[in-house]
Amino acid sequence: MPRRKLVAGNWKMNTTRAEAVALAQGVAAGVGASPKCDVAVIPPFVWLDPVAAALKGTAVQLGAQDVYTEPKGAFTGEISPAMLLEVGCQYALVGHSERRHVIGETDAATNHKVHAALEAGLHVILCIGETLAERERNLQERVFQRQVYAACAGLTDEQFGRLTLAYEPVWAIGTGKVATPELAQEAHKNIRARMALLYGDNIAGALPILYGGSLTGDSAPGLFAQPDIDGGLVGGASLKADSFLKIVAAAG
Ligand code: PGA
Repeated sequence: MPRRKLVAGNWKMNTTRAEAVALAQGVAAGVGASPKCDVAVIPPFVWLDPVAAALKGTAVQLGAQDVYTEPKGAFTGEISPAMLLEVGCQYALVGHSERRHVIGETDAATNHKVHAALEAGLHVILCIGETLAERERNLQERVFQRQVYAACAGLTDEQFGRLTLAYEPVWAIGTGKVATPELAQEAHKNIRARMALLYGDNIAGALPILYGGSLTGDSAPGLFAQPDIDGGLVGGASLKADSFLKIVAAAG
């Protein structure tokens, strides 16, 4: 079965409440009732509720930028998978490079978060990718191996069915330096081959792998035409409805 594409907009720590609602409404209006790919927006935690209300009855899905490992309790500042489900999220982002490299999240923490989110019933978008220093030393394939092996350890076949990977080279995020379609395809193919070795051909073949890093309406068509690229995780260009919708159109 061909993999359905997904385009998800990670708003990071941007938007006021009014901007978030207006952006969600603009995306929903542009996407229409039956888009050719899945579309999700990922606002800051505090705007999930009003954005969920704005998206009600539309084809646009909702995700959170992070999730905690425990269902409830004395974990000041954290948000549980059940809270995300109650507010209307279908997706949780895990292991974004800013969480790994700015906040210091470890591979082990990503594994716990992936488990907690999937066990609660969420879909997970798991981000992986090498830094510039790692690419310069040609270490990217080892980084993919380490990150997927650590983050996916212990998942069941059913849980793999709710997992999406996002390949986001750290040197491409927010820099304007988008990966070429050839470089990205090579990375995605390599990641899929590693998943096949670790978890079998069926899981690897069905697994959507998104590209992320300075994606725009201009670069999306070339990237999305590659056989192992199944959509995009969009940062900067997801903050305006029209630039995000151009990327969505490229996935159709
Ligand atoms: P960018 O961010 O599109 O602004 O590079 C992508 C991401 O971090 O997911």
